[in-house]
This record gives sequence, C-alpha cells and structure tokens, in this order.
Amino acid sequence: MARRILIAGNWKMNKTSREGAALVGEILAGLPSGNLPEIVVCPPYLTIPAVVDAARGSAVEVGAENVHWAESGAFTGEVSTAMLLDAGVTHVLVGHSERRQYFGETDETVNSRVKAALAAGLVVIACVGETLAEREAGETAAVIDRQVRKALEGVESTEKVVIAYEPVWAIGTGKTATPDMAQEVHAQIRAILRDLYGDAADGVRILYGGSMKPANAPELLAKPDIDGGLIGGASLKAPDFLALVKAGAEA
Ligand code: PGA
Repeated sequence: MARRILIAGNWKMNKTSREGAALVGEILAGLPSGNLPEIVVCPPYLTIPAVVDAARGSAVEVGAENVHWAESGAFTGEVSTAMLLDAGVTHVLVGHSERRQYFGETDETVNSRVKAALAAGLVVIACVGETLAEREAGETAAVIDRQVRKALEGVESTEKVVIAYEPVWAIGTGKTATPDMAQEVHAQIRAILRDLYGDAADGVRILYGGSMKPANAPELLAKPDIDGGLIGGASLKAPDFLALVKAGAEA
C-alpha cells in the first residue's frame, strides 16, 4: 500500500504570529513544483490563526501541538478540538515527549487526547519514544509496545492516525538514530499495528523524529517503514524545512 510521505514541522514554543506567518510565506515561496509530500506545520496555539491565514489555499496544512479531550469546561489553560477546528487546524500532535517529560502527560491522557481528536475528525500524530536510560537498559521494545498500544486503546480506525517515533535522546540533541536503528523500531511499530488492525497497518504513516535534518533525511526516508519526519529545530528555518520537503518528495 503506497503511503504518502508526511513532512511535519513542530515549532514548539517558537515564533510570534508575525514570525510564523513570515516563515510560512518563505516556505510557500520556495516550494518545489511537481509532486509534493503532505506538508504540515504545528505552531503554538496563539499563533495558529496567523499561520492558517498565511497558509490558506496552499499545500501547507496547519496542526496544533496538543489538544484537550473534554468538549469544554473548567480546564484552565487547555484548548478543545472544536476550538482547533474553528481555527482551521487539520492535524494535532499528541503525547510529544516534552509533554510527557515536563507536563505530566501519561499513556492514559495521551489515549484520551487521541480519541477525542479522532472523534472530532482531526489527523492525530501520536508520539512515542524511549529515553536514553530505557534504551541502555534494553527496554526500548517494551516501552514502544506499551506506548503504542495504550495510545490506540479503543481506537477502531487508523484512517486518521499517524505515529511518530521520536527517541527522546535524539530530540534537539543533534544525535540522530541511525537509519537502521530507526527502521528497527518502525518495523516493530508496524507489527504492533498489524496485530491490532490487520492489513490496515500498511496504510499508517510512521514518522521519524529527533534531529532530522537535510543531511540525514534522505537516508532515513529511504527505509521501508519510515514514512516521513516530525521535525523540530530544522523546521524553524525555511531553507532547511524546504530541503526536508524536497527529500520527502524524492523519497
Ligand atoms: P528536533 O525535534 O528535530 O529538534 O530534534 C523533534 C521533535 O521534538 O519533534
């Protein structure tokens, strides 16, 4: 089953509205002609309207970096699926390791967010990945198995599900998993999806994230189960992000 490559930028807590809109403008001005991968940028909540405006009618779609599971109510500081849809958001990251590490995100809350976002019709990019200590203790496979199964508990269709494998030790550190190391985990994730969803597993995109940049993207994207990238640092500069889009187009 052919899977369309997805190149997603995770802007994290970077760029004001004006800066974000300018970055999208630069990306649009530099997009190659011809076949493109699916392209998504995920800016901070407050700047989403400006980024959606800048991307309107283009090949660039806009995602959020998180979402709450309740429809509305007393959840100070949170944002609902309806608010995201209303703002023109089509995709959402869930369970990024920074949410898990710094903001108390658990496998249970990840699962609640995934289910709410899918029910609202958003494409969910569910993030999983082991820490350095877990990898060194030989626990990578067990951690990935638990995170993937729990994130998808109660999810019946994978139509709008994307998984991002992001080894925590590779995020923002300049250390990338080698293509073989990444492929090994991606193949494991594919096998879990096959166990859960049968042949539909072949249609699910599995992104790699963690210091992906123009220099290492072609080799990573050449692997059979690496279907795109979730990119932090290199998504903040138009030339780098465009080079990653190009790598996605050529993969
Ligand atoms: P990085 O971040 O590309 O800066 O390592 C990736 C991510 O956290 O999604």
